[in-house]
Formats: sequence, C-alpha cells, structure tokens
Amino acid sequence: MVQIDSDACIGCGICAASCPEVFEMGDDGKAIVKPDADLSAPCIQDAIDQCPTGAITQ
Ligand code: F3S
Repeated sequence: MVQIDSDACIGCGICAASCPEVFEMGDDGKAIVKPDADLSAPCIQDAIDQCPTGAITQ
C-alpha cells in the first residue's frame, strides 16, 4: 500500500517525474497514486527517498 500524506505534500512533482507509472499530480496540485499503479514498481522507493517532505509511505 503506497500512500501520500496530502497535508505533507507540497506538490513539487518529483514523485510523478521519477516514478510516473505510479504517481501523478492531482487537480489540487498534490500527488496521487494512480488507480492502476503497479505497487511493486522499484521506482516507488526512489520517489520515497527523493520526496522533500517525506510525504510518501509504503
Ligand atoms: Fe508531493 Fe513529495 Fe511527490 S512533496 S509531489 S509527494 S515528491
């Protein structure tokens, strides 16, 4: 289960850039997990490591 804390997300977009098969930017400018995301994608860890606010958890 990959989750994004929308209160912590500042909408920098790094996750959507580094792992586009899992993350995308929502209409409110915050990241969301795509409905059809591959939750075993290795890039998820990259996004977790790169998120400046630690908003992504797995
Ligand atoms: Fe938000 Fe972190 Fe992604 S701040 S846009 S969840 S890299």
